[in-house]
Amino acid sequence: MPTLKTRCSLLVRGIEAFLYFEVGLIRGLTPARESSTKDEQGDLHKPEQDTTGADDSSLRHRAYVGMPEEWDLVAARQVTLLLTAGLRDNHRLVDVGCGSLRTGRMLIPYLEPERYFGIEPNRWLVEEGIEHELGRDLVRMKRPAFRYVDDFSLSEFGVDFDFALAHSVFSHTYPDLALVGFRGIAESLAPEGKLFATFREGRQDSEGSGWLYPEMVPYTWERMNGIIEESGLLARRLDWMHPRQSWFVAAHPNAEDDIDDFSHRLRRPLVPVSRPSSSTC
Ligand SMILES: C[S@@+](CC[C@H](N)C(=O)[O-])C[C@H]1O[C@@H](n2cnc3c(N)ncnc32)[C@H](O)[C@@H]1O
Repeated sequence: MPTLKTRCSLLVRGIEAFLYFEVGLIRGLTPARESSTKDEQGDLHKPEQDTTGADDSSLRHRAYVGMPEEWDLVAARQVTLLLTAGLRDNHRLVDVGCGSLRTGRMLIPYLEPERYFGIEPNRWLVEEGIEHELGRDLVRMKRPAFRYVDDFSLSEFGVDFDFALAHSVFSHTYPDLALVGFRGIAESLAPEGKLFATFREGRQDSEGSGWLYPEMVPYTWERMNGIIEESGLLARRLDWMHPRQSWFVAAHPNAEDDIDDFSHRLRRPLVPVSRPSSSTC
């Protein structure tokens, strides 16, 4: 017969296991799947290095932007963050470095027509994303706008954005290009608009210029935050899921309270939603 002490310790271990696997997985602490191709330097694989779909040219566009086995997981984490932060279908969103529409294939159907904007220097990625992920009917119906540039010139779209997303872009820019990027985003972010972006966190900053790919450019948060502030924006780190990178939110100084509040809300423990007794939905 187990003693009370044994029962308590079993219960504690059960709760710990639940927290590790459920909450840890939700919070991104436990990887969804280990991969033998993952290394410390980077998560990105050029098409010719892709082992999952080596001869399948219909998967090239996935392999270029990251590990193909994480394609969907990383998309889901981006989209759930945006929705948690208040994205609604009438907002205007710019996807900076939209690549092969990993999130575009989910955001374009969700947003109202002419609300999704993407910039991407590699035109082929967007074209293959449309071909293999989104489909031309949705392009006709939702009319997303794309610009194939590498200078972060968002103002050329001629609109202000409620949301900007830059997933795995500032993890490849050295400080000079990162500053160009943040300035371009700041110029077109609405007064209450928010930028959600990732960077590769490291213990030391690195020297260099321009774009590095597929390897990543590590930053200390202090350095990354300094560049964001130089662009005129303010930022807060976010406790949100990512296999290897760290998230932050940035906004104009007048929206500082908003981003402060949002970053604190994400840190609170997950509370079970209480169900109403009604049998209707
Ligand atoms: C790691 S991929 C991420 C793509 C996409 N955000 C995603 O989550 O799948 C980085 C993307 O940034 C694009 N890129 C490279 N230089 C850029 C620049 N100067 N401005 C914007 N995007 C750039 C690359 O072509 C590539 O599509």
